[in-house]
Amino acid sequence: MKKIKKIINKKNKSKIVCLTAYSKNIAEEVDKYVDIVLVGDSLGSVLYNYSTTRKVTLTEMINHSKSVRLGVKKSLMVVDMPYNTYSTSNAALKNAKKIIKETKCDAVKLEGGKKIIHQIKLLTKNKIPVMGHLGLLPQSTKGKFKSKGKTTKEINQLINDALLLQKNGVFAIVLECIKTPIAKQITKSLNIPTIGIGSSVHCDGQVLVTDDLIGLNQTNIKFVKQFLNVKKYINVGLRKYASEVRSKKYPTKKHSY
Ligand code: KIV
Repeated sequence: MKKIKKIINKKNKSKIVCLTAYSKNIAEEVDKYVDIVLVGDSLGSVLYNYSTTRKVTLTEMINHSKSVRLGVKKSLMVVDMPYNTYSTSNAALKNAKKIIKETKCDAVKLEGGKKIIHQIKLLTKNKIPVMGHLGLLPQSTKGKFKSKGKTTKEINQLINDALLLQKNGVFAIVLECIKTPIAKQITKSLNIPTIGIGSSVHCDGQVLVTDDLIGLNQTNIKFVKQFLNVKKYINVGLRKYASEVRSKKYPTKKHSY
């Protein structure tokens, strides 16, 4: 709970930095720079080439989260509840408890507002920290991803959902692909922080998929900025290894028993 309070207290003081991790080695590096490490179900498309995050299973999320747990020492660790694991309140509670027990994560994230408010209410009542997710909801989206907050109906629903999530105890909300003025308005109207992805600088924090920002995963999504091309460095090492094996430069006596 101390870590959750620390995140909430950052609102209106300093930006919240969040990144995804799917395994220990990346989590170890990410943990040094962020406030929140998210085991996102985006791992379905990034690692397994699934056409939709709906195909991600609870077992996959738990296994990747166990690995991430080994690398996260200081940040808040949040795990996405995969599709179909929170369709009823009882299922949500049972599966959230399983995720927390098996992965030792600090919180879970669920996609949606009013439609899943009974599930969220039951989790927070049971002292399970919940992160919300509004706007573009990959688990509910079929076909092309589109920004949200364009029509009056959509805007009202987003604002009402955000207030409803706050009222029911979520400690932060991811705002995905929400039009700038609406993301700004939602952020201003809440006491809890918003974490943006494609939702402008006006959110209290920012999240990205680590594999996208380091260039390990190639994507042309508008909100992604590639800060590094890590593949270039990987290729330097791999090329050198292959060349030294073929030329018998490696292994030397030093590397042999
Ligand atoms: O699955 C994920 O990685 C996410 C973030 C992109 C917000 O939900």
